[in-house]
Amino acid sequence: MRVFLRTFGCQMNVRDSEILRGLLEEAGYAFTDEPENADVIIFNTCSVREHAEHRAISILAALARKKGNRGRRITGLIGCVAQHKKEEIFKSIPKLDFICGPADLYSVPDIIARVRNGQKHIVNVRNERTARSVEYVNPGHRGSKIHAFVNIMYGCDNFCSYCIVPYVRGKEVSRSSKDIIKEVKDLAKRGIRHVTLLGQNVNSYNDRDCDFVKLLDLINNIGSIDKISFLTSHPKDASIRLFKAMRDLVKVDKHLHLPLQSGSDRILLLMNRGYTAKGYRGLIKKYRELVPGGRITTDIIVGYPSETEKDFRDTLELMKDIRFDGAYIFKYSPRPPARSSELKDDVPIRVKKERNNILLNTQKEFYKEKAGA
Ligand code: SAH
Ligand code: SF4
Ligand code: F3S
Repeated sequence: MRVFLRTFGCQMNVRDSEILRGLLEEAGYAFTDEPENADVIIFNTCSVREHAEHRAISILAALARKKGNRGRRITGLIGCVAQHKKEEIFKSIPKLDFICGPADLYSVPDIIARVRNGQKHIVNVRNERTARSVEYVNPGHRGSKIHAFVNIMYGCDNFCSYCIVPYVRGKEVSRSSKDIIKEVKDLAKRGIRHVTLLGQNVNSYNDRDCDFVKLLDLINNIGSIDKISFLTSHPKDASIRLFKAMRDLVKVDKHLHLPLQSGSDRILLLMNRGYTAKGYRGLIKKYRELVPGGRITTDIIVGYPSETEKDFRDTLELMKDIRFDGAYIFKYSPRPPARSSELKDDVPIRVKKERNNILLNTQKEFYKEKAGA
């Protein structure tokens, strides 16, 4: 049996796909890059914006309709769209055999076995992590021989008004530091030199007396690891103590991804971000003082409900003042049940595109200047 597995979305999904590949290989499946030659097609999906969700659904629906070279194929949709749409997804993809949410990833090999035994439309979207998924360390398959993603926490409790992640990834849970250290040591033995620690909000990592800075320190002491990166930091939890650790721990990558989202205090408040533009500027100033040469990247959303020209100018101005080393710019997309979906999506798409382009071009200028400097 050959599996075609395609991954959309963030690094958590990339890591989940590695875990799933490891589990399926253990169960005797082979992998292929050609959907036509697959017996099982699985899409690991993202719901963070409507466009991403639609794209995955329409590509998978087209594949499910096609026959392929090997007769009847099993198709499954896993990840955040499964958790978000639940049974409703079978209306868009009637030929789909199963869906499984991110917390139940470990049950996929068993689900495929049930489909092979004739069961249809299997649904597993409980959204509660089992003891196994939180504590079990499965080195399994790794996409690279030198770099590895390591989950340190799951879920998110922040409920930024626009964001669907807390609804599809569940409550924030930190993995035990003992398990994380064991996993990193195992990886080091297998030749991994660079680890990226993953969580929606890594700075709120907490396992009994071990917080994120302590965890960085513990990993910094692991002999053959020579680089430690991490994603994502939230401005309300990023601290001077973190910046000092970034300065003092030699292996820690001097790169901070600190999503700004907006430079307007009015919009930041509506977004439930928990900081002001001034607070954000202050953090960056401290970071630059404490971590000389440190890189800083960000995420920005344009066209949040009620965003005025003035709000947008505030974002542009902040962006110009800070001069990020990289910026991802997104056009706002309402994501029910996220709270902002109750507000009228009143910034016309034309204006969203315009604002998006202005920020992209501004960032491009910074890249050019940096390359020329
Ligand atoms: N936990 C991370 C990543 C969240 S998703 C964080 O807090 O930064 C990655 C980015 O997608 C977010 O930073 C945000 O800029 C963007 N995003 C999330 N929801 C969105 C929405 N409804 N519309 C447009 N962009 C969105
Ligand atoms: Fe979404 Fe906010 Fe959580 Fe990031 S911190 S995942 S933007 S709710
Ligand atoms: Fe997307 Fe889920 Fe990640 S919604 S951004 S794949 S947590």
